Parts: sequence; structure tokens; C-alpha cells
Amino acid sequence: MNNFHEWLSQKQVFIESVLEKNLQRTHHEILLIEAIRYSVLNGGKRIRSLLVLAIAEIVEVPLKAIENIICAIECIHAYSLVHDDMPCMDNDDLRRGKLSCHKKYGESTALLVGDSLQSMAFSFLSSPFLQINPENQLKMIYIFSNAIGIEGMAKGQALDIENTNKKISFDDLKVMHQYKTGALINAACITTVLASNNHDKNTLDKIDTYSKSVGLMYQIKDDILDKEASLKTLGKTPGKDEKDNKSTFVTLLGTSKSKELASAYYQEALIAIKPFGDKANYLGAITELIMSQTS
Ligand code: IPE
Ligand code: IPE
Ligand code: MG
Ligand code: MG
Ligand code: MG
Repeated sequence: MNNFHEWLSQKQVFIESVLEKNLQRTHHEILLIEAIRYSVLNGGKRIRSLLVLAIAEIVEVPLKAIENIICAIECIHAYSLVHDDMPCMDNDDLRRGKLSCHKKYGESTALLVGDSLQSMAFSFLSSPFLQINPENQLKMIYIFSNAIGIEGMAKGQALDIENTNKKISFDDLKVMHQYKTGALINAACITTVLASNNHDKNTLDKIDTYSKSVGLMYQIKDDILDKEASLKTLGKTPGKDEKDNKSTFVTLLGTSKSKELASAYYQEALIAIKPFGDKANYLGAITELIMSQTS
């Protein structure tokens, strides 16, 4: 496992090159395309793509399928961030250390960036060149569409808005986080397994369990970092959740209980992938990386 850092830096280069290749400028250059590139190719941590690549170390996935899942996931994620930052949502001026999309290009362009990225994601997923069994590919598209809509991310974002300026229960908060952040992480992970032409149900179930724990851990960590990290580390405005009276694990339970909870989900995630043995070393290491991010 001492080669994890080597693996990580290679995969980071790979992810950026895949995104750059697939989001090329066209001849008919319009501002929308510039804004799309600005929003995707702007230095995210690429955690979801790294999870895809670490899962592809456990199951065998055709390269083209890996590339397109990465593009789909990063397009959807970037779309969610562009809309999340808009004045009608969280109203944040900064993202990934730069002006948020609407601040740089205006609200109408930001809205259309989100619209475009969403459809681009489905184009990547439904490509006829992925070399995977069509039935599995259809399942992947179905999983993705559910994960981001009214039974997924959009629902979570709606609950986030509804739950602002309110005190909600632990269970309701958990549900909100499962939808707004967990659903997409889950989709990234299980579609990677489905893209393997010889996967089995047992693997799918274990990755499903793993990714559900990671999804919760990820948003709890995000809530903690909002409270504890600096603008420089975050690349977005710190302390915003408390200021905006958002319902988060930190505002409900405090920082130290939230850390305990994130750690419990971290352990659950590791237990789920233990049966994979050494094949899951990179996946375990990425999970640890998420867990260890601090201010
Ligand atoms: C931020 O996601 C929003 C959440 C869903 C927690 P990331 O922390 O993965 O953002 P980037 O992609 O690294 O900027
Ligand atoms: C966003 O949650 C979840 C999304 C679906 C984008 P946050 O609103 O906490 O994300 P940040 O902190 O702005 O990145
Ligand atoms: Mg938000
Ligand atoms: Mg936000
Ligand atoms: Mg946040």
C-alpha cells in the first residue's frame, strides 16, 4: 500500500485528462461552453471519480466505460454545485477557490450550465461505445436518473431549503443528507460495478452498503469543514451554514459528536469492503483520505 500516493497522483492526472478530452471547445464557441468548462475543469477534489477508479480495481470495467462514468459523475456534480451556489439557493460567491459560476457569467448562464451538464451526463452514460452489456447499461442510466431527481439529489436539495431556519430531528437530517449527497455517491459506486460485465450480486450489495456509509460520512465531513476549515482549504465561504441557519449535523449535534458520527460511518464503510481483501486497498485508502481531511 505504500504506492497509494503514486496511484492517487496518476489517477488524478487521468481524471483531468479524461474531462479535458471530453469537454473540448467546439468550433461554435459560445459563452455557455466557456462557462461549462469553467465549472467542471476547475480543480475539484474528484472524490467521486476516485471512488469509481478504486472500485474498478476490484471489478474489471472496460476503459471507455470508466471514462464515461467519470465524465457523467463530474458533470452532474458540477451542475449540482453551480445551482447550489446560485442566489436562490445558497448564494455563495466562491467555489473551488474562484468566483462561483453565476458570479463570473451571470445567473442565466449558470442556470443553463446546469441544464447542459445534466443532459451531457446522460449522453456520456448512454453512449453506444461503452463495451458493456446493454441491459446493464440501461440499469446504470436508470440508477443515475433516480439518484439525481425527485427520489435523489433534487429531493435532498429541496429538503435542505425546507429545513433552513428549522430545528429538525436526527432522522430527518440523515434522510436529507442521504438524498442530497449520498444518492450521487451511491450511483457513482454501483454503476461502476454494473459496468463490469462479470460482476456478481454479492459485490454489488457490498459496494452499495459501503457507498451509503461513505455518502453520509462525506456530507457530515462537509458540514464539519464548513465550521472548522479556512477559505483557503475549502475554496468556498466558510461558516456559511451557521450564518444561514442551515440544518446540518454540526448545527444539530455540535462538532465533536459530528466527528464521532463521521468516524462511525467510516468504520461501517471499511467493514463492508473488508471481504474484498487487498483488492480494496485503494478504496479503503480513498475513504481514509476523505475522513482525514481537516482545516
Ligand atoms: C461539495 O462536494 C458538495 C457536497 C456534496 C458535499 P465536494 O467537496 O466533493 O466538492 P469538490 O468537487 O471537491 O469541489
Ligand atoms: C450541497 O451541499 C449538496 C449538493 C447537492 C450540491 P452544500 O450546500 O453543503 O455544499 P457546499 O458546502 O456548498 O459545497
Ligand atoms: Mg446547499
Ligand atoms: Mg452550498
Ligand atoms: Mg456544505
